[in-house]
Amino acid sequence: MVKISSKKVVSKKISNELIRCVQRVLKNAYAPYSKLSVGAALYCANGNIYTGCNVENSSYPVTMCAERIALYKAISEGERNFLLLLLYSPAVDRILPCGACLQVYAELAPDILITTMNAKKEFSFYPLHTLISKPFRLNR
Ligand code: THU
Repeated sequence: MVKISSKKVVSKKISNELIRCVQRVLKNAYAPYSKLSVGAALYCANGNIYTGCNVENSSYPVTMCAERIALYKAISEGERNFLLLLLYSPAVDRILPCGACLQVYAELAPDILITTMNAKKEFSFYPLHTLISKPFRLNR
């Protein structure tokens, strides 16, 4: 077992599977404009894994990030309990989610552990609330 925070633990088998997933899915990234490929693997409490890669567009703002694609795939399949997100881009040392992704995760996966990896398989771990402490919420 790999202890990845005070609360959450994933086995070596699962972490290896998540690493394989991000390496595989980032090959599907559509990033002709930024040339930055990103892969995400979202690990659910029931053991399911959903992957995502970034999908850009010539109308730049409608580009979608890897981590939101993974989460939207999962939500649309009925998933609601998320434990861990692994993010990887070979071009960046331990890529972090953008503000838009943090806002979306804050609403749909507030207790998730964000895990990010570089090409040397060095990891950093961030409980979501350490990256976005006061997300926007509608109070009505
Ligand atoms: N991107 C992601 O997919 N995830 C992130 O965490 C940050 C940025 C994508 C969006 C765009 O296709 C490219 O990376 C450059 O911003």
